[in-house]
Amino acid sequence: MDAIIITGNGPLKGETFASGAKNAALPILASSLLAEGRHTFRNVPGLADVATMLKVLQMMGCDAERLTGKKKYVCEVEVGPKVTPEAPYELVKTMRASVLVLGPLVARWGRARVSMPGGCAIGARPIDQHLKGLQALGAEIELTEGYVEARAKRLKGGTVTFDLITVTGTENVMMAATLAKGRTVIENAAREPEVEELARVLNKMGAHVTGAGSDIITIDGVDTLRPVDHAIIPDRIEAGTLLVAAAITGGNVLVREAVPEHLEHVIAKLREAGCKVTAEPEGIRCIGPSRIKAVDIKTKEHPGFPTDMQAQLMALLSTAHGTSVITENIFENRFMHVAELARMGADIQVQGATAVVRGRERLSGAPVMATDLRASASLVLAGLKAEGKTTVSRVYHLDRGYERLEKKLRGLGANIRRVKG
Ligand code: EPZ
Repeated sequence: MDAIIITGNGPLKGETFASGAKNAALPILASSLLAEGRHTFRNVPGLADVATMLKVLQMMGCDAERLTGKKKYVCEVEVGPKVTPEAPYELVKTMRASVLVLGPLVARWGRARVSMPGGCAIGARPIDQHLKGLQALGAEIELTEGYVEARAKRLKGGTVTFDLITVTGTENVMMAATLAKGRTVIENAAREPEVEELARVLNKMGAHVTGAGSDIITIDGVDTLRPVDHAIIPDRIEAGTLLVAAAITGGNVLVREAVPEHLEHVIAKLREAGCKVTAEPEGIRCIGPSRIKAVDIKTKEHPGFPTDMQAQLMALLSTAHGTSVITENIFENRFMHVAELARMGADIQVQGATAVVRGRERLSGAPVMATDLRASASLVLAGLKAEGKTTVSRVYHLDRGYERLEKKLRGLGANIRRVKG
C-alpha cells in the first residue's frame, strides 16, 4: 500500500487547478445506461472510484473506458441494445455509489439486481430512501441474499417525498423518473451542485427535468433518451481542500477552475478564520494569515457547510488561535481523523456529534493512518503545517477522491512525495 510523506515546508505559493467533480462523474456515468449509443464525458477525474464505476458498466456489457494520452480526461461509454442489469457485491462493497445504477436499470431495462452497499467507515449509510422512491414510481423491490431485486414493466410518475435529504437518493429517483410514464415530483430533494449537473446531462439526453438545485424537482417522463457529449463541472471539494492547503500554511494560492458559487459556505468560513479569499476570472485565490482564528462549524446539506469539508477544516482549526466547535450533522461516524490528528499534537475532544478543537501553535509530524477519503486529505493538510516528517499510510483512501494530490501540492512548493508500498 502506498504512503505519502510530507515535511512541513512553509507557505504554499502559486497556481493549481481543480479536476472534474467525482460526485458528479459517478451519477453521470451511471446515467449513460438510460440511453443506447455512444456517450462522451469530458473532464472526468482519474480516480479509483471512477475506475470502479467503469468496471460496473463493463460488467453489464457496456464498452466503458477512460481514454489515455492527450484525451486522458475523456470517458467513452457505449451502451448496446442489451445489458446485464446487475451490479455485484464485490464491486458495490468497494464503492457504494455503484447503487446509482439502480434507477437507470429499472427505468430503461425493467429490472435490476444490485448488491446492497453495506456500511462504510463513516456510517451505516442505508439506501432505504432510494428504494422508497423507486417504489413510489411503481417498482417492485425485493431484498434477497444481500441484493436489491427491482422490477417494473414501466415506471409511472408519482410524488416522492424523502424523509431526509439524500444526494444519491435524489439522483437515483431523478434518473429513474426520466423514462417513467407521466410526471414525477421529488420533494425534500438534495440541492447539491452535482444534482444540478446531473439534471443538465439528463436534459441534454432529451429528458424534461426542472427545479434541480431546489428542494422540489419535477420530471416529465419521455419514451427514449439519446447519448450525450458533456464536460463535467470542477470538483468543489477538491477545490476547497486546495484552498485549505493555502490557508493552513499561510500561503497564497490560486485554484483555477474552482467555482465560487459552489463553495459559498466554505469561503465564508475561511474568511471568518482570517483568510483573504477572492474570486478571480480563472478561479478562487486564498491567502492564509500568519495564524488562523478559531471558528465554529456545523455541517449541513447544501447550501450549508459540506460534510465533505469537515475533516479538512478540522486540520486547519487544529492550528488556530482559540477554540473551535465542530458539529457533524450528516454522518454518525465522521471523526476518525481525530485520533490521527491527535498523534500530531492536535488537542481535540469528541463528545457525540461534536468535536471541541483547542488550537495549537505547532503540530509535529508523525506516522498516521488514513481511514476514509476526506480523513486522508485532512492528514495531508496537517502534514503541510507540522514540523518534521508526517507519513500518511493507506493512501488508497485518498486516491478514491483526489487525482495525484501530492503532485498538485508539490507544484505549490510542498515537500511531499509518494512512496510505493
Ligand atoms: C453523497 O453520498 C456523496 N457521495 C458523499 O460524498 C457526501 O458525503 C454525501 O452525499 C453527503 O453530502 C456521492 O455523491 C457519490 P446521502 P450519499 O444519501 O448520497 C442517510 C465523499 O467524500 N441516508 O446524502 O451516500 C445517510 O446515512 C462522499 O465524496 C439514509 O438514512 O449521502 C447519511 O447519514 C462521502 N437513507 C445522510 O442520509 C438513505 O436512503 C446523507 O446521506 C440515504 C441516506
